[in-house]
Amino acid sequence: MSFDRSIKIAPSILSADFANFGQEIQAIESQGADWVHIDVMDGHFVPNLTFGPMAVKAFRPHVKTVMDVHLMIAPVDPYIDAYADAGADVLTAHIEAGPHIHRTLQAIRAAGMKAGVALNPGTPAEAVAHLLDLTELICVMTVNPGFGGQKFIDMTSKIRSLRSMIGDRPVHIEIDGGVDPSTAPLVAEAGADVLVAGSAVFKGGSVDDPDVYGANIRNIRDAANGVWA
Ligand code: DX5
Ligand code: ZN
Repeated sequence: MSFDRSIKIAPSILSADFANFGQEIQAIESQGADWVHIDVMDGHFVPNLTFGPMAVKAFRPHVKTVMDVHLMIAPVDPYIDAYADAGADVLTAHIEAGPHIHRTLQAIRAAGMKAGVALNPGTPAEAVAHLLDLTELICVMTVNPGFGGQKFIDMTSKIRSLRSMIGDRPVHIEIDGGVDPSTAPLVAEAGADVLVAGSAVFKGGSVDDPDVYGANIRNIRDAANGVWA
């Protein structure tokens, strides 16, 4: 996984067919996905429940790009080794999930993964000021986490602050929630490079009609890059 700031589209399989994850992952990757975003929810930190480390481990052989695992769970630390064993490339924990995010990020790196830190909409950019050398990715939530298909919350001023705080460190800014061709240019212009999109990638397509995924991914990427159809 090399570092660059080009726009990367990370479809969230939260919007995929839950009975068919293997083929769904292959379909989005064959249609241009750069990363695969996996939303882990525990019914406690967020009011929804998805899947755990055993399912994530089963996804691994299907993911040929980057397996980007977003933990919406509390606590995080007892599960870090399980997600390393599952093969996560990036493991992201929420800063709001506990009092010791500094230790959590160290533990994620020590387990051999890239460490990400996610910020809920109510959490300011300054919360990561002392974490910038401990992380490879800052995930700016542009919805309150828990569900796909929610309305985008404008966090462009937070993204700009983070971009300036990061400077030339190799730290990605990821945006998660409500990303589509209308919101992608706002976040890209503010400094984001990894765009998670669930409903906007999967809508209208299926594993039997994967070209729709390709068109959806292309539309988001082109909009983020300032290419207008
Ligand atoms: C929300 C998740 C997101 C979500 C994005 O809690 O972290 O990754 O799936 O879905 P859309 O793109 O539909 O807002
Ligand atoms: Zn997510």
